Amino acid sequence: MANGKISRKQFLKTFGALGAGAILAPIMGKAEGLHFADRKIKVGLIGCGSVSNMYLPHLTKSPYVEVVSLCDIIPERAQKQAEKYKVKNHYPHIDQMLAGVPFDLLVNTTDMQEHGRLNRIALNAGKHVWSEKPMANTYKEGRALLDFANSKKLRLWGAPAVVNSPQFAFMAKALNEGKLGKMAAAHAHYGHTGPGWSAFFYEKGGGSLPDLGVYNIATLTGLLGPAKAVTAMTTIVTPERTVDNKGKIKVVAEDNTMLIMDHGNGVLSHVQCGFNYFDPFGHEGDGQDRPTIMLWGSHGNMALIGYDWAPFGVHLANSWDKPEGERFVPDPGTYVWEQGASVVSESLVTGQEPLIAAEHALHVLEVIEAARKSGKTGKRVMLKSTFKYPVVK
Ligand SMILES: NC(=O)c1ccc[n+]([C@@H]2O[C@H](COP(=O)([O-])OP(=O)(O)OC[C@H]3O[C@@H](n4cnc5c(N)ncnc54)[C@H](O)[C@@H]3O)[C@@H](O)[C@H]2O)c1
Repeated sequence: MANGKISRKQFLKTFGALGAGAILAPIMGKAEGLHFADRKIKVGLIGCGSVSNMYLPHLTKSPYVEVVSLCDIIPERAQKQAEKYKVKNHYPHIDQMLAGVPFDLLVNTTDMQEHGRLNRIALNAGKHVWSEKPMANTYKEGRALLDFANSKKLRLWGAPAVVNSPQFAFMAKALNEGKLGKMAAAHAHYGHTGPGWSAFFYEKGGGSLPDLGVYNIATLTGLLGPAKAVTAMTTIVTPERTVDNKGKIKVVAEDNTMLIMDHGNGVLSHVQCGFNYFDPFGHEGDGQDRPTIMLWGSHGNMALIGYDWAPFGVHLANSWDKPEGERFVPDPGTYVWEQGASVVSESLVTGQEPLIAAEHALHVLEVIEAARKSGKTGKRVMLKSTFKYPVVK
């Protein structure tokens, strides 16, 4: 242990006296064997909808986490997930959740428009927060939340977790080593035909930017550095939709965006996202083996194969040693896009800073807001936020 920090190996050695069997026990239905509950992060998850089906299996298998409570304003959803994932407590409102069984970290997987408000309530109650994207409705609200968290010595993090993938690390390293020469441009795209279950994706504060473009913006700023300015066009292709929870609705948020980021030093990148893209690989993206991200420099280019949230390879070509290019398939390791809340829980235990950073999530939020503003006004919008770069050294 150095500087009060412990490594994953040390944690498992010290607190996992029962070894791998204990860690796997919850999966195997033998949870009573676990003896390091005191050192685990007690998690309360709010928002028991679609994405909770990805978060809860991951969180409940983490050796660093004990999920102690669930909450949803639709109480039967919280109850159903509590039964399915063997979580002892469930509540119909955040106030009851906060007054109930104590926890350390709020995992917020509610509607996008609720994130800022609920994150503040949780911070106010002394909880660390992992928030699904975006962490707030506006950059201003997000900045205030992060300042508030810092002032209370609490941690606040926001999705996505794309910087954790081995493919991101591979690309970042290639760029750090100058494998592409002088950087010039990049392109990224992500879209499908849009979620059909909840209206919030299409309401004010929603849209394809915070739901889909957010991944590409996090990846490209993570690879090329913070953006200094944004220009964008945003449109609505489908003005009316039918969704499970509200029937026929008017689409208010953009469902089709093209944005350009200026990263400084002449480097420009382009992101396109939308809810009107036919995609043979669907919402899950299984089988996507074409590049969704391309980067170009004076002496090389590089493509990320698959989506940045579920990538599996990188194609790299450069004029020095491989002009025809080569496909690399980095070891996937343990990366999955839904790992963010588990990863920050691990970091709360070990004291080791994760790659995912609140300042980066906040910068991405500022880009999103700037794109909306640029789309509305037709003007280039300057940005003020930044984050620690390079993300991977
Ligand atoms: N569904 C996915 O595949 C997916 C993937 C990645 C990220 N996300 C993100 O996860 C978040 C949730 O998306 P989803 O698809 O799960 O939506 P969803 O509509 O399926 O679930 C949201 C849940 O939050 C609950 N909720 C809303 N306001 C609440 C409040 N004030 N208190 C308690 N509960 C509240 C709703 O009742 C609902 O059950 C969004 O930010 C989305 O962008 C979703």
